[in-house]
Amino acid sequence: MANPFTPGFGTPPTVLYGRETEMGLIDRTSFTLGAKHPAHSRATIITGNRGIGKTTLLTATVRRAQGMGIPVLRVGAKRGFLDDVHYAVDWLVDELGRKPNLSLAEINIGLTAFGVGIPGAKLTRKKRAADAHKRPFGASMRVLIDLLVRRKMSGLLIVIDEMNFKHARDTTLEHIVSFSSAYQSLIEDDLPVAVVISGLPIPIERARRNQHISFLTRAEEIRLDEFTYQESQAVIRTIAQASDLLITDSAVEAMAALSRGNTYMIQEIGYLAYERSGGELIDVEHVSAVRTAFLEKVIGSVAGVAYEELSTKQKLIIRTIAEQPEITPKEMARVLGAAETSLPGYRKDLVDAGILVADPEVRGRFIIAFPYMKEYALRLKNEGAENSAAYDRVTGFPDV
Ligand SMILES: Nc1ncnc2c1ncn2[C@@H]1O[C@H](COP(=O)(O)OP(=O)(O)OP(=O)(O)O)[C@@H](O)[C@H]1O
Ligand SMILES: [Mg+2]
Repeated sequence: MANPFTPGFGTPPTVLYGRETEMGLIDRTSFTLGAKHPAHSRATIITGNRGIGKTTLLTATVRRAQGMGIPVLRVGAKRGFLDDVHYAVDWLVDELGRKPNLSLAEINIGLTAFGVGIPGAKLTRKKRAADAHKRPFGASMRVLIDLLVRRKMSGLLIVIDEMNFKHARDTTLEHIVSFSSAYQSLIEDDLPVAVVISGLPIPIERARRNQHISFLTRAEEIRLDEFTYQESQAVIRTIAQASDLLITDSAVEAMAALSRGNTYMIQEIGYLAYERSGGELIDVEHVSAVRTAFLEKVIGSVAGVAYEELSTKQKLIIRTIAEQPEITPKEMARVLGAAETSLPGYRKDLVDAGILVADPEVRGRFIIAFPYMKEYALRLKNEGAENSAAYDRVTGFPDV
């Protein structure tokens, strides 16, 4: 039997656990393409921290839309993504002109071939494609939507993953702004187009505050959080049942505890324990045996990645709380070199993103909620200590 656990980024799980409400919301805002006057701007944003299932939910959305006969344009909002979208749209307009009977499947391959890289797709991007655009982006979109509607299709769904950018001068932000203004004008003209976007909470919140990205302000937001301990157990049990795998109760509890409710981490511990068990029955011994390997993996590749994406001040806050969980607001202000009254401002994005959670018992005290980010930050401290030992050794020789 193949391992039923699927750790990976964007790897569809064998069982998509507990996203019924979210799928319902996406359907409501995005699949009303046939309706003349939709209630919303037909935009949905999925936010959540690293490894929480955003890409997976987008993939489920794409499949559902395609099942309903809706063409889907899917891209990753990496550098230059607007050129990729633009090029794909122009390509499809040409194709539709030449081949009147192009199937929905072929249309979707053309639309997905950029940005997410479908293996085996025939379409390759020409060099300097950006210079070769025939019309402005908005105009290309209009031509495409018109062609789709004439083919009795209900419209176009655009799916954008990883809408993250680091700072105001990021070129990705410029592309997002250009995309937004083109999209906005399509919506104003009542054209059947919808968008589902995903990204990390902090950049998405920043984008929502940007006055040049107006469609995001009115978008419906779906926030993905960690599963609870009970839910994490249910995820593991459901996956095991679906593949006739036996797991003891104590193994399920140990796996759920280690996962801390992060979907990536649930899959990772499941994967490792399954491999260790040989595939017949997972018991708690197998889980203990892979515990260290699991921690190595998730501290570095999930918590560490999420930490390194934070700003310098945010990192300092996390590091300080990791090292001194009982720090007073006054001491924290001193560490940050700021006034005590400005602390909430510094913390706000971390709290909104669910990376920090207020301790209900002690006013002004916070705990690090992101799974294993505390452990990652403490490692940095130890590295610092090792470095300073090396420094002392090297500089410990007197000048003669
Ligand atoms: N609802 C779910 N039930 C079970 N497993 C899930 C669920 N959602 C996601 N997963 C699993 O969790 C892992 C991470 O999912 P995904 O890549 O979608 O996260 P993400 O939020 O896009 O992460 P990132 O921010 O790093 O891109 C994948 O291995 C996926 O199979
Ligand atoms: Mg993702």
